[in-house]
Amino acid sequence: MAQSKTAFFCQNCGNQYPKWQGQCTACKSWNTIIEEVLHKTEAPKWEEMGVSASRKASSPIAINDIQHISEDRIMTDDQELNRVLGGGLVPGSLVLLGGEPGIGKSTLCLQIALFAHFKTLYVSGEESSQQIKMRADRLKRDNNNCFVLTETNTSAIFSQIKSVRPDVLIIDSVQTLFTDAIDATAGSISQIKACTAELIQFAKATNTPVILIGHINKDGQIAGPKILEHMVDTVLQFEGDHNHVFRILRSHKNRFGSTNALGIYEMMSTGLREVSNPSELLLSEKDDSLSGNAVAVTLEGNRPLLIEIQALVSSAVYGTPQRSATGFNAKRLNMLLAVLEKRAGFRLGAKDVFINITGGIHVDDPAIDLGVVAAVLSSNNDQPIAPDVCFAAEVGLSGEIRPIQRIDQRIAEAEKLGFHTIYISKYCKLENEYKGIRVKLLSKIEELVQSQ
Ligand code: TYD
Ligand code: MG
Repeated sequence: MAQSKTAFFCQNCGNQYPKWQGQCTACKSWNTIIEEVLHKTEAPKWEEMGVSASRKASSPIAINDIQHISEDRIMTDDQELNRVLGGGLVPGSLVLLGGEPGIGKSTLCLQIALFAHFKTLYVSGEESSQQIKMRADRLKRDNNNCFVLTETNTSAIFSQIKSVRPDVLIIDSVQTLFTDAIDATAGSISQIKACTAELIQFAKATNTPVILIGHINKDGQIAGPKILEHMVDTVLQFEGDHNHVFRILRSHKNRFGSTNALGIYEMMSTGLREVSNPSELLLSEKDDSLSGNAVAVTLEGNRPLLIEIQALVSSAVYGTPQRSATGFNAKRLNMLLAVLEKRAGFRLGAKDVFINITGGIHVDDPAIDLGVVAAVLSSNNDQPIAPDVCFAAEVGLSGEIRPIQRIDQRIAEAEKLGFHTIYISKYCKLENEYKGIRVKLLSKIEELVQSQ
C-alpha cells in the first residue's frame, strides 16, 4: 500500500501549506484551509491506446533548427468560438471554459457537440443522460457522432474513451471529477488539480482537444478554476447578465492566439445564437422625439460596438442629489458631472442623474465619456439628439476632449450602421477619409454644449 501523505490546501485559492492555519496568507480568507490526503498511484498507460508516450531525455536545440509544423486545427461549427480560439481547436490542447452557474456553459458545449462534423464525447457529471437529451431536444439537433457519458471517475471515463475514440472530449464539469489516485472529495483543490493533470496527459498523448467546464462562485467558497489557469492552454470566460440575453465569450489566456478576440451570443429558447453584428441588436428602435439618449462607439476586444446610453436628469427631491449608473462606472459619472458643472456652467449639483447602458452590458472604455456627457446634456435641456449622430471620445478633467485608440475602426463601424455624424477629438490622427459620415472635431466640452 502506498504511503499516505497529507497536505493542507486553501479551498479558495489553492495555496498549499504543510500545517493547518486559520487564515490563508495568500488570499487572506479565513477557515478555508482543509487537510487532504494524497496517494500516489501509477499514471494511466496511454500505450494501451496505441499511443507511444515518448519519454526521451531532451537536449538543447538551436531555435532556427526546430522545424515548423503547421498544425491542423479542428474547426467547430461555431464561428464565434473558432474566432475566440484563434482559428479553431488545436489538437492536444486543453481549453478551460469558466463562468457563473446558469450562464450557459453546458448549453454552449452541447451545441458544439451536436453541431459538429467530428466525433465528440460529452462527459457530464452534473446532469443525467435524460436531462442532456431534453436539452438536445430544445436545441433541435441530433447527431450520430455525439456520444454522452454520465460518469465522474476519471479511470472509468478513460476506459470509455478507449471504445468511443472521440475527436473532441468535453467534460462538464471539472468540479465533479474524481480520480482514484487521490483520497480527497470531488471538487477539492487536490482532486481538481490531479484530474486536470490526467486530462492534460491524455490530451497531449492522444492529440485530442479537451474542453473542460469549470464553475466560478461569486464568493469563492468552492475551488474555482482559477488555480487551473496555469495548467491549461486556453482559458475562456463565458459572461453575461442573467436578466439579459447577451452572453460574451472572452479569452483570458490563449497559447495559440490573441486574447483580444471576443464572441457574442444571444440566449434564445432554442439555445445560443451567434451574433455577428451586435451593434444592430444593442441599438433600440429609434424614436427621435426622446431626449436623454446618445449612441457611443466602444470596443469589445477588438470589435467596435455601438451602444446606447440613456440619461435621466431630474430635480433633486432630497438634500443630497442621487447619482446612479447601470453598466457604467459611478465614480466616472461623478467625475464627468463635476467637469460639466465647472466647464459648462450646468447646475447639476441640484439634480438627480441616472445613467443606463441598454442591453445589460458593462462598459469600461473611456471612449464613451462623450456619449455619457451628451446624453446628460440632452436630458437636462430636454433636447433630443438626432438619431444619426454618435460619439467617440474621452473627456479629461479640464474638459478637454481626448483622443482614443482605433478611431478609424470605430468610425467605419458607425458609417456601416448608417450614422451620418460622429463627434470625435480634434487630436485624433485619422488614417482614412470618410465620405458617408461627417466627422466633427471637438477640442473642449464647451464646443459640444454650443453645438447642441
Ligand atoms: P446551462 O447551460 O445549464 O448553464 P451552465 O451550464 O453554465 O450552468 O444554461 C442555463 C440557462 O440557459 C438556463 O437557465 C436556461 C437557459 N436556456 C435557454 O434560455 N434556452 C435554451 O435553449 C437552453 C438549453 C437553456
Ligand atoms: Mg452546466
